[in-house]
Amino acid sequence: MVYVTRKAHFSAAHRLYNPTFTDEQNERVFDKCNNLLGHGHNYTLEVTVRGIPDPATGYVIDLKILKDILDHVIIDKVDHKHLNYDVEFLRGIIPTVENLCVAFWQELEPNLPSGTLHSIRLFESDQNLCDYFGEPVELPRWTSAEVPTHLPSVV
Ligand code: NI
Repeated sequence: MVYVTRKAHFSAAHRLYNPTFTDEQNERVFDKCNNLLGHGHNYTLEVTVRGIPDPATGYVIDLKILKDILDHVIIDKVDHKHLNYDVEFLRGIIPTVENLCVAFWQELEPNLPSGTLHSIRLFESDQNLCDYFGEPVELPRWTSAEVPTHLPSVV
């Protein structure tokens, strides 16, 4: 088995917030990450696909094709966006690095033309990262009625 990885970068804002918590609970649990208007990260995403190289091409998956799929399915939708409000497939989830990995997997996996998705590694900073290998994980998702659909207005 051979493993190939494509790396991508994006910048985005998020706010960690659980709508069923009180303001005090949100502040205690999420601390600075609960900042009302959000805060930003420069993310690095690494997607690894495994398989046997095609004898005719030597490719598990053409990395140019993987790049295009990654851009289309994830990067174009999240880069320079607020992950709580602007991204349809992230609606209602708490955008931690863990939950983002799971959500990205769900978007990417059905769109791979060859090979098998092996792992998604997401760096939120140089120090903080998450690995996900596709084991079943329940991704709690609140409805639009429960979470705000746009930034609060601050007067
Ligand atoms: Ni953060």
